[in-house]
Formats: sequence, C-alpha cells, structure tokens
Amino acid sequence: MGASTLHTVTVLPPPRVFLGRDAELAALVSALRSDVTTGRFIVLQGPAGIGKTSLIDAALARAHRPAPPLRARADSMGRRHGHRLLVDALAPVLTEDDRALLSRRHQYGVGERLHSIIDRMAAQPTVFVLEDLHQADSASLALLARLARTVEQAPLLVIGSLRTQARHETRPALDHLLGVLGERGVLRTIELGPLPNAACLEITEHLTGGGSTAPWRGVSPRPGATRSSSPRWSAGCCTTAA
Ligand SMILES: Nc1ncnc2c1ncn2[C@@H]1O[C@H](COP(=O)(O)OP(=O)(O)O)[C@@H](O)[C@H]1O
Ligand SMILES: [Mg+2]
Repeated sequence: MGASTLHTVTVLPPPRVFLGRDAELAALVSALRSDVTTGRFIVLQGPAGIGKTSLIDAALARAHRPAPPLRARADSMGRRHGHRLLVDALAPVLTEDDRALLSRRHQYGVGERLHSIIDRMAAQPTVFVLEDLHQADSASLALLARLARTVEQAPLLVIGSLRTQARHETRPALDHLLGVLGERGVLRTIELGPLPNAACLEITEHLTGGGSTAPWRGVSPRPGATRSSSPRWSAGCCTTAA
C-alpha cells in the first residue's frame, strides 16, 4: 500500500443565530447594561429546549459587560454535592486558601466561606448566571435564599433559569428560595413560551444552510402545531437531517 497523506478537515459549527424574543432580550440586556446598584434576581422559566440558555447567551453577547459573569449550570450529578452550583460559579475567583477550605467536608464552614467570597465580590457590580436551578443542590439554594434577604443592599444581579415545574415537583429548597425572593420583592420572572413557527423554520434553515426548497418547508413542527413551537424541534430536526 502506498503512503497516504492524512488531511485534517475542520468542520466549524454554524455561527449562532438568535431569533425572536425581542422583549425578553431587551429586558435582560437592559438589566445587564444598567449600573447594578441594588441587587435582584431575574429567573427565566420555561420547558426544556425552549431557549433559556440561548436567550442568556444572546443577552450577554449584546450587553458587552466589562467582565464575564460568574456562571454555572446545575445538573443531576451535582445535586448530591453540597454547594456544588456556587463553587462551580465562583471557580474563576477562588484563591488557593478558598480551595483548600472548600475541599473540606464541613458544609457549614464551606457555606460561610462562600458567603464571605460573595460578599467580597459584591463590593463591586457582579453578575451571576445560574442555570437549571431546578437541579441545583439544596445547600446552594439555601445560601442563595440567605443572600436574597440582603440582596437589595449589594450590586448583585443573579440571572437564573428554571425548567417549568408543577408546584408539587418543586423541591423544598427551591420553593423556599423563590418564596424569599418573592417576599423581598427582588424577583422578576420571565416566562418563555414557544417561538412562532416562522422563527423555528428560520433556525432550521440557518443550521442546515437550507433554502426555500428544503424538505421541511411547510412541515408543522409537531402534529397539530400551526403557529408556534419549541426551537429545540428545529435543532433536533437538523440533527436528524444532518
Ligand atoms: N431564540 C432562538 N433563536 C435561535 N435558536 C434558538 C433560540 N432558542 C433556542 N434555540 C435553539 O434551540 C436549542 C435549545 O435551546 P436552549 O437555549 O438550549 O434551551 P433551554 O436552555 O431552554 O433548554 C438551542 O441549541 C438553539 O439551537
Ligand atoms: Mg439550558
């Protein structure tokens, strides 16, 4: 067999596109751009795949804040580890001392240290992005509830996301956090509904490079759907079509 040359082909993901949701995007961009003086929480709520993460990404890209947010996403694995969500979010600003203390197992000490780190951060405007709060560990949610009691006094903006759940599915620690935020009047909830079908088709075309002859043109995103749907359908359709 003759020598063969290997050619590496780099396939770049398509550039990200963000469509629709003008009002929600404007609300987030304005919160991110305004001088954060009094603290508050903005929570995006909606089913899986509706576009919560995409909306946050689009708002951050447009807001041009001087520093990136402290960002983390909860998942079912992390739920069992005390304070996992906040430790992940604060990772970029932890000192060696912090890390040594946080690696210990005494959750009370860990919580106190995290609280003091957040206090330190909040001496200047700080943005947290905490995604999928429905999966967050209870210790992080409890610490957030504690922060919520004094958040008006600090320049802290917390943008969270949350999968829509029935009340009986909401874990007590999350229910408590939302309750405290509501009582203190520092919570704004933004509910995300389906995008219009036209936007979903545009997303599909963008992801596939398809045009007016693309086979899914004229196809309803789900049986019976005529005017609106979930953007994930578009992404899913593209994965299947690819
Ligand atoms: N407004 C939008 N414009 C373009 N694409 C979107 C939009 N919203 C969602 N998507 C697409 O749908 C997929 C799922 O959205 P995502 O933001 O991850 O949902 P969620 O965070 O609510 O689970 C994304 O990867 C993206 O391809
Ligand atoms: Mg998401």
